[in-house]
Amino acid sequence: MSRDQSKQGLLGNARRASQDSNSDESDSDIEATDFLDRVVPILSRDAIPQPPIKRRKQGWLLRCLGRRSRCCIGFSAAIVVVWIILSAGGAFVYKKYQEEPPYGQSPPWYPSPKGGIASSWAASYEKAAKLVSQMTLAEKVNITTGTGWQMGLAVGTNGPAVHVGFPQLQLQDGPLGIRFADNITAFPAGITVGATWNRQLMYARGKAHAIEARNKGINVLLGPSVGPLGRAPAGGRNWEGFGADPYLQGVAGAETIRGIQSEGVMATIKHFIANEQEHFRQAWEWGTPHAISSNIDDRTLHELYAWPFGDAVKAGVAAVMCSYNMVNNSYACANSKLLNGVLKDELGFQGFVMSDWLAQRSGVASALAGLDMTMPGDGLKWANGESLWGPELTRAVLNGSVPVDRLNDMVTRIVAAWYQLGQDDETAFPRRPPNFSSWTDDRMGVLSPGSPSPQDEVVVNQFVNVQANHSVIAREVAAEGIVLLKNDGVLPISRHGFREPPNPSKEESNKLQVAILGEDAGAGKGPNFCKDRACNQGTLASGWGSGAVEFPYLVTPADALRREFDQNKVQVREFLTNQPNPNGGLAAALSTVDLCIVFANADSGEGFVAWEDVRGDRPNLKLQKGSDELIVSVASKCGGDVVVVIHAVGPVTMENWINSPKVKAVLFANLPGQESGNALADILFGDTNPSGHLPFTIGKTLTDYGPGGQVLYTPNGVIPQQDFNEGLYIDYRYFDKYGIEPRFEFGFGLSYTNFSLANLHVTSHKDKSPLPAPRPSPAAEPPSYPTGIPSKNEALFPVGFRKLEKYIYPYLSSVDDIEVGQYPYPDGYYTEQPLSGAGGDAGGNPDLWAVYVSVEVDIKNTGAIAGAAVPQLYLEYPDKQGVDFPVRVLRGFDKVYLKPGETRTVRFNVTRRDLSYWDVVQQNWVMVAEGSYVFRVGMSSRDLPLVGTW
Ligand code: BGC
Ligand code: BGC
Repeated sequence: MSRDQSKQGLLGNARRASQDSNSDESDSDIEATDFLDRVVPILSRDAIPQPPIKRRKQGWLLRCLGRRSRCCIGFSAAIVVVWIILSAGGAFVYKKYQEEPPYGQSPPWYPSPKGGIASSWAASYEKAAKLVSQMTLAEKVNITTGTGWQMGLAVGTNGPAVHVGFPQLQLQDGPLGIRFADNITAFPAGITVGATWNRQLMYARGKAHAIEARNKGINVLLGPSVGPLGRAPAGGRNWEGFGADPYLQGVAGAETIRGIQSEGVMATIKHFIANEQEHFRQAWEWGTPHAISSNIDDRTLHELYAWPFGDAVKAGVAAVMCSYNMVNNSYACANSKLLNGVLKDELGFQGFVMSDWLAQRSGVASALAGLDMTMPGDGLKWANGESLWGPELTRAVLNGSVPVDRLNDMVTRIVAAWYQLGQDDETAFPRRPPNFSSWTDDRMGVLSPGSPSPQDEVVVNQFVNVQANHSVIAREVAAEGIVLLKNDGVLPISRHGFREPPNPSKEESNKLQVAILGEDAGAGKGPNFCKDRACNQGTLASGWGSGAVEFPYLVTPADALRREFDQNKVQVREFLTNQPNPNGGLAAALSTVDLCIVFANADSGEGFVAWEDVRGDRPNLKLQKGSDELIVSVASKCGGDVVVVIHAVGPVTMENWINSPKVKAVLFANLPGQESGNALADILFGDTNPSGHLPFTIGKTLTDYGPGGQVLYTPNGVIPQQDFNEGLYIDYRYFDKYGIEPRFEFGFGLSYTNFSLANLHVTSHKDKSPLPAPRPSPAAEPPSYPTGIPSKNEALFPVGFRKLEKYIYPYLSSVDDIEVGQYPYPDGYYTEQPLSGAGGDAGGNPDLWAVYVSVEVDIKNTGAIAGAAVPQLYLEYPDKQGVDFPVRVLRGFDKVYLKPGETRTVRFNVTRRDLSYWDVVQQNWVMVAEGSYVFRVGMSSRDLPLVGTW
């Protein structure tokens, strides 16, 4: 594919302005040798092109060419073949998307809407305007651009505006705790939080996370994650988010954001958007010169993938991270339709858009398309100090290719977010680097280890303990996130065993015999054995990648069970491996055991690193490391009952043993974090009644999820194309539409008690009408600044400035060659887009959030012990000609704690957005005004005994 063709993919045939073609140069400048280095599909930070390897390759090539041998002919032929394949692939993709674009090329949406229209942000914008109006060009650019990979102590740091007192912002991963830090809490992962279905816990975990961030000196947390949404159950990073349903993701994301931001820390909702798999997520990381394109139709975009981002904006999120992938063949961080149109106009986002790390692939184009901050600052390659912004953005503003008011808007958005969170309060947010370093565990180190320039060593790790009592929240979330899938009366078990020993003496033979089996029950080589947790060993408590942290400790299941069982009455034996007895001795060992608790797991993570055949995404849904076989073997050999405990990043197949009569109970413990064993003990012994419900469907096989549920493992073009042809039908929506019987349905989870539901009552609050109220006029005016191009002198390095090599500064060494000109803007740039009828305020048109109808039900604990229930509301749309609706969609849930015999009334508020579908012709949310909506309430997506209509 030629460069011209690849350009077509961006911004819908956009032609880029001069600066941008510079950046495009560097894109194609990536030499053949680089390509050879990169055919190794996975690159870790440590594996970024290494000179010795290159030299070896060249040496071999030169020797070969020198000899004109057969090997040379073979080599040339290979090059030709590869060239033909690449060109053919490129031509194919080009042709396909020129002639019959399945979803059209992503359309242009310009100009970028300015922040400052919402009343909830107006005061912050006013303050920001005062500060920004005093900034020089270089200061403004500095704020928009990261200083480079490893140029600060956090994973991302932008530049300050020193003279006006705007500090550097410190940005740190990730969604489950403070990455690369000591003395922090390793909270349960997002998927475990989703499984709690408990709004208070979602909020509390976010708040505790933010307290730790603030006390470590972090301004911006790089979480929560609601994308990937979970289209592909094997997707590597689904576990960072909350489950395979937009409503659940939306609620959990918003509660987490509210929790984080209640502490003044900025939350970042990520990854915008459709980063549903790890394979090919990023240019070059997988050998392909471009990232995958997720091709989505407009309705699916709105009703599934963008939905939770809407909740996040409504919750006031400070930042949005755009993702690595392309959407409809335009990079997400330069997709004007998505950033300018959907996010900033329609959803009314008032904060700033930052790129994922190296997800920015163009200079001017991404500025025009709505990107506000580039991270970590480096451009097309890691850590080479060549930013697409920084000095290039300065140049672009001076030569007129990025309008000054776009730069002003970028900066104002960032500064307004800072004020909005109260970060101008220096007591809470002292203006200094974090008190820990992401790059070393030593006390002393340099502030910019990414730079080869000599630097003084300073204290970089102060080892501040920020954990407070957060282990309590971590344990509660982990316990409530355990889903009881099966229980033939064996759970809960007593610490003293489930029966009296025949002969209550202290002799071992008379004690109840319990076996704990499986590597997943034990410590293995310790929780931090692999960098970024990128391997599956020992008990699984987190997936891997930037969403993982260094565990301060990990209470293993074996530790907790050993501690909790009454040693006088129970004999606990441990077989903490998946091959407990290769010589068949296991049968003998287990034949006298009364209770076998067997552990199994499945891991995955972020695509920059692979473990065995799990290259980010899982290759299948099997339990890993032979743990499926272990369960089967234990089920056949155990003398007594078998309890299965699973730790996993998502659904796993269970067909080999789930129906075994020996398997009496199954606990799906998701990814519990540091309190794993304690939380499990809480549930096993019945101190906490299980109340987790599945945040995804567990199918019988991977194929049951349909063609749309599959990861694309081999590239089908130079820009791998992933068509989301299944539309709205992912996870339970797919199973329901095609009548596929899942093993355990979305929303399913058992308790040790029973609940009954009664008295469904529907109350109408507002009349039905197809369209929301007209878009309100803006409650506030965005700040306005002089639009003249600033003086070139503002861009020069100050005299005597000491540069660090590779560090990214906003300055230029010379401005002599800069000429103001009429540089070409992207196609469609001058056609102002109509404002969306769905927009008008932060979170979109306020009428979309108005409650139109509410549904009440009574829920009663009919059993003998206290416990929490998760009643769920699903909605069925009235028939409408020409519109296909899912069988039902989740539109409400609650978690209610009930004592035995207690009854409570639960109320679900249903908003206009909940009742609407996205009408692609009207470009708005439309309610079906004729016919009746059906509401079903029950305990899972397939157990819905109560029904009502509206
Ligand atoms: C870094 C991560 C980053 C990833 C991106 C890794 O080397 O450690 O922070 O998310 O690269 O590919
Ligand atoms: C990941 C992000 C993360 C960033 C910084 C990227 O590779 O995709 O989720 O926040 O790195 O580490």
